[in-house]
Amino acid sequence: MPCRIEPATPAPPSAATPLPAALDWIAEALDHLAAAGLERPQRIRDGRQGATVDLDGRRLVNVGSNDYLGYAGDVRLTKAASKAACAEGFGAGASPLVSGHSRAHERLEQAIATLLDVPASVTFPSGFAANSATIAALVGPGDLIVSDERNHASIIDGCRLSRANVHVYPHRGVAPLDALLAAEGTQHRRRLIVTDTLFSMDGTIAPLADLCAVARRHDAMLMVDEAHATGVFGPRGSGLVEETGCADGVHVRTGTLSKALGAAGGFVAGHADLIRWLRHSARGWIFSTAHPPAVAAAATRAIDLVAEEPHRRVELLTRAAAFRDRLIAAGLDLGGSEAQIVPVVAGTAESAVALSSRLAEAGFFVPAIRPPSVPHGRSLVRASLSWLHSHSDLDHLADAIVACLR
Ligand SMILES: Cc1ncc(COP(=O)(O)O)c(C=O)c1O
Repeated sequence: MPCRIEPATPAPPSAATPLPAALDWIAEALDHLAAAGLERPQRIRDGRQGATVDLDGRRLVNVGSNDYLGYAGDVRLTKAASKAACAEGFGAGASPLVSGHSRAHERLEQAIATLLDVPASVTFPSGFAANSATIAALVGPGDLIVSDERNHASIIDGCRLSRANVHVYPHRGVAPLDALLAAEGTQHRRRLIVTDTLFSMDGTIAPLADLCAVARRHDAMLMVDEAHATGVFGPRGSGLVEETGCADGVHVRTGTLSKALGAAGGFVAGHADLIRWLRHSARGWIFSTAHPPAVAAAATRAIDLVAEEPHRRVELLTRAAAFRDRLIAAGLDLGGSEAQIVPVVAGTAESAVALSSRLAEAGFFVPAIRPPSVPHGRSLVRASLSWLHSHSDLDHLADAIVACLR
């Protein structure tokens, strides 16, 4: 087939156009960010990502995506998406509640429920929407939320949206959480404990069995976000709830299809009535167009692959443990990571950016993570490991990190 020459994209107006006076404050705010070392470049990726990635015209070992099982660039997902797009068209066209819920979405929700071994699930356009909309649908004014201090932004925003009374407990602090609920719990109509299971910036794991016990003791709902654990942990690959045998004590399980599953969209899974309630009350589901059926088909294929290729998650976690051991042996502070997310704490925003740039010079893309994603003074570079990385890739990366820090 002859190669089609794409017409040149017309250029937008020049970025040097002066800001209208009403937006002057933005120039000042951006100057402050730059002065604090918090300016963020917009990188451009070319082509399909895998063990390496082409960023801004440079090929680097890709330790900066959440493609933990290597499915984001997998042609089997592309084929599933193309087949669904040919059959159903691309856009969903409407909210799921109106006409956007296609056969592909229905199959995906059943596949998620089967993977998590729960009666029902509902999918959202993103994991962010799943978390924020669900919290606001579960609690409101007069209710209490207790939230781990390192929870993801989507949980924080959901807490704010709900207008419930929010208390933040120290990271993985079961005793302070218990004390908070003892002091505050009875004054509120409902109580909700909310936590990530695998923390996205730290690679630390929530003490799920203890959280279940606290929830039971205080008659609280327990909601957990498995965004980084889905596909990676548990004998079936459903996440840390399964891995820790806590399914009976967790009331609401959320997750995303965008990380280990290599697709896009978020989900909530649990009791059939919980899911029915969300379909009547979760505004981020009711008032948002469903994600494209092709995306749902790709995510369903990825769920099948999680069942067919359990060796990927086993090997990923084994290699991640060896990688962490190598860095710890070199005396590095990994902030308590226990998983495939491995932060190396650098301190200031500037030192994290400098470390990330040195690693890029050595051939590795390891992004710098700075405030507001992490507290001031705890900036880091975060290695997100993938099954696509071999033992030797990770040995070279560990050696490069140690060398760059010297
Ligand atoms: C812990 C956690 N929850 C939720 C999300 C949101 O998921 P998504 O990217 O699918 O919107 C993320 C993504 O960054 C995350 O890290």
